[in-house]
Amino acid sequence: MKVGILGSGDVAKSLAKGFIKHGHQVAFGTRDTGKLSEFIAAHPTAKALSANDAADFGDLLVLSVKGDVAETVLAGVQHQLSGKVVIDTTNPISDAPPVKGVLQFFTGPNDSLGERLQARFPQARIVKAFNSVGSGLMVDPQFADGKPTMFVAGNDTAAKADVGEILNQFGWEVADMGAIEASRALEPLCQLWCIPGFINNQWSHAFRLLK
Ligand SMILES: NC(=O)c1ccc[n+]([C@@H]2O[C@H](COP(=O)([O-])OP(=O)(O)OC[C@H]3O[C@@H](n4cnc5c(N)ncnc54)[C@H](OP(=O)(O)O)[C@@H]3O)[C@@H](O)[C@H]2O)c1
Repeated sequence: MKVGILGSGDVAKSLAKGFIKHGHQVAFGTRDTGKLSEFIAAHPTAKALSANDAADFGDLLVLSVKGDVAETVLAGVQHQLSGKVVIDTTNPISDAPPVKGVLQFFTGPNDSLGERLQARFPQARIVKAFNSVGSGLMVDPQFADGKPTMFVAGNDTAAKADVGEILNQFGWEVADMGAIEASRALEPLCQLWCIPGFINNQWSHAFRLLK
């Protein structure tokens, strides 16, 4: 599969490694391809392109940019989104500092970045995923107690099945939380995940749903 990754940060690079490991072709979309020269030298099959070219390249897209520019970045590639699955890894983190270890969001409780993106870009098949764990644990997470759970949400069942296959390849159990409005519950998992980090410098955990 050809994967276009919009972003050049830790999440973009971590997921790119996972896709490459599992035999997929990867192109990053960034304003500054030079940022990725070290990564490309280490992973020569990957390409660093403009956002437009990466969106053209990808049959599947990954959105891994800062939350407050997510709408702007997708708007820039809106003509390449039609019918494509877009894995939305973003969280609506505001620039204000955390309060006692709790990240501040620019969305409210009855709103989410995932649903804002899906409403603005109905031609895209957005699946919220990978937003509730640190980038270092996104691919092949290893825990003594077994596989952790990745919560996903989106309106398109087939798109969620495709993303579920990728998550299974990457070593996750998948919990489908329903429509994109479930991002209202998934995005705060990022706040919860970060609290032990900010308070105790503990960043090596993940969530698991016990049934
Ligand atoms: N870091 C984590 O462990 C983690 C875990 C789960 C979810 N997330 C979420 O995943 C997303 C990516 O996180 P990250 O830590 O990898 O990166 P980040 O530092 O949140 O964002 C970096 C990316 O944002 C883009 N960006 C920043 N300002 C921009 C602007 N004005 N216009 C266009 N693009 C802009 C950059 O694009 P250029 O390449 O063009 O500079 C870069 O690719 C975020 O929404 C974050 O909340 C992060």
